[in-house]
Amino acid sequence: MNNVTYLECSLCKKRFEANRIHNLCDCGGPLLVRYDLEKARRTWSRDQIAQGPNSMWRYAPMLPAKPESIVSLGEGMTPLVRTRHLGRRVGAGNLWIKDEGLNPTGSFKARGLSCAISMAVELGIKKVAIPSAGNAASAMAAYAAAAGIEAHIFMPRDVPQSNYIECKAFGAKVTLVDGLISDCAKLVNAGCETEGWFDVTTLKEPYRIEGKKTMGYEVAEQMGWELPDAIFYPTGGGVGIIGMWKAFEEMEALGWIGKKRPKMIAVQVEGCQPVVRAFERGEQRSQFWDNAHTVASGLRVPKPLGDFLILDAVRSSGGTAIAVSDTELIDAGIQLASDEGMFVAPEGAACVSALEKLLASGFLKPSERIVIYNTGAGLKYLEAYSTRFPRTASSEQDKLGGLITPR
Ligand SMILES: Cc1ncc(COP(=O)(O)O)c(C=O)c1O
Ligand SMILES: [Zn+2]
Repeated sequence: MNNVTYLECSLCKKRFEANRIHNLCDCGGPLLVRYDLEKARRTWSRDQIAQGPNSMWRYAPMLPAKPESIVSLGEGMTPLVRTRHLGRRVGAGNLWIKDEGLNPTGSFKARGLSCAISMAVELGIKKVAIPSAGNAASAMAAYAAAAGIEAHIFMPRDVPQSNYIECKAFGAKVTLVDGLISDCAKLVNAGCETEGWFDVTTLKEPYRIEGKKTMGYEVAEQMGWELPDAIFYPTGGGVGIIGMWKAFEEMEALGWIGKKRPKMIAVQVEGCQPVVRAFERGEQRSQFWDNAHTVASGLRVPKPLGDFLILDAVRSSGGTAIAVSDTELIDAGIQLASDEGMFVAPEGAACVSALEKLLASGFLKPSERIVIYNTGAGLKYLEAYSTRFPRTASSEQDKLGGLITPR
């Protein structure tokens, strides 16, 4: 049983009934799901969690879907891996990587879309549409396929090939757009009006964030209910940060953790850093970032809808926002792969580069417990990494030559 009481506008605090189809509040604010935390505290304890499934649905009492609506492909409960070499090399004695690349469809987007599609099933929705930087598209296509729901995908023409092929294979209706996710969003808006699709744009739809918040529950569980000192999160729409921040609040109300919070560190890229810019200027909202460009396609979000919520979490946690270049992040991704045996998405690699900078500047101390979220699998980004490993006749042999090649 879940403990949902109502939905609440994150801006004007207006309340909305649960069990109804909702997008944004009339004031434009995203809606957040609220739970009866007193009841949950009385009826559920953290010691019972391990009896639940080995997926994010082990936190079902704090998720919105009824058991019979759940569409799961085994998302969540991703490994939290302590680094062997990287930490030592960059001067971090207690460094962990939460590897979200092991989720269904190879990214953390599976969490949000498992939750959103489960709720679509529960609310009787038959057609869903999404503007996506790439990974949310393939995740939605997968869960919609599993649920037997029609999926309409709008994503930039130059998304990684993996995202396009996954969506097609899952049977979604795909439109490639000459533009960014913000242009895709306009097309989805129009289609929702004329075609009766339900808009699954992150934060316009209230349940994706609920799936993503389980990254916060999991890190607490995996670290013995003591949150780390710092969390690095690659920030596009920033929903992971907002979701984890919400999870920490809920867990405190449940009596599972204390008041201490990790420094939340929003990592962006030089070619698209609206949150970093707003953070540095002390502003509460970001400005649209013109000509956004980066190989970390998930970070190409020129104006996050929940910017004020990201900035609030970053500031009230004593965290920071930092951008790295594409060259730095690809370097960091390759270094991480050879240090740790983990091949991460460019978005996760950006966090490794940011970590080095914040250790060098003294913002973080070597003794702090640090968790990096790698939000996707490196294998989804072969175009980005192949620029470093071009397959020419001479590069394919690594000097083993006659030993292994036919003569
Ligand atoms: C691999 C990856 N990392 C990070 C992000 C950004 O996610 P969020 O919206 O939670 O900031 C995305 C979004 O597309 C992504 O695909
Ligand atoms: Zn409102």
